Amino acid sequence: MNTLECLKERRSIRRFKAEKIPHEVFEKIIDAARYSPSWKNTQIARYFIVESKDALESIASNCLMGFEHNIGIVKNAAAVAVLAYVEKRSGYERDGSFTTSKAAGWEMFDAGIAALSFCLAARENGVGTCIMGIFDEKTVAEAVNLPDGMCVGALIAMGYPDESPAPPPRKEISQLLTFV
Ligand SMILES: Cc1cc2nc3c(=O)[nH]c(=O)nc-3n(C[C@H](O)[C@H](O)[C@H](O)COP(=O)(O)O)c2cc1C
Repeated sequence: MNTLECLKERRSIRRFKAEKIPHEVFEKIIDAARYSPSWKNTQIARYFIVESKDALESIASNCLMGFEHNIGIVKNAAAVAVLAYVEKRSGYERDGSFTTSKAAGWEMFDAGIAALSFCLAARENGVGTCIMGIFDEKTVAEAVNLPDGMCVGALIAMGYPDESPAPPPRKEISQLLTFV
């Protein structure tokens, strides 16, 4: 699969087969995701994989703000990756001040790049993913024993796809692109 195919054909997958994802496959995915660009190569993204049925049930019940749509996805997933990041590195000077007017925004920027790399690498390995932004950060942090100094960027539901959704509509290039 070439890069353009992978970019255009990746879909958010929300229905998964019961099959577990081998640890070697997670390692292959992280091997690719770690090549993501990051602020001054700070490489702040970290991945906590939740894969036991009990732990997934617990995340579904306690961490998703009662949002039934995401609860259904997590209950059905083979695993959930908690994409976390080390705070106060990306976008910061050594003295702790912000480098730019984007302030702490670069942390989530780096986490977002890592998330897409993760999802594309998962797809290349046959694994479907769905990034989820609706979660309660405090209870997710507790669920994975997140170390101090780290924040949760996103949850990524994972599993071997049990659906092939059509691509949701995209805006026209002319709506997105401006030559100045
Ligand atoms: C930051 C972010 C948060 C998202 N949160 C959710 C979510 O909470 N639940 C969900 O089902 N999909 C979520 N999605 C997936 C989007 O709905 C999906 O990417 C979009 O509809 C385009 O579909 P595609 O990924 O198949 O191209 C999220 C995606 C992103 C990037």
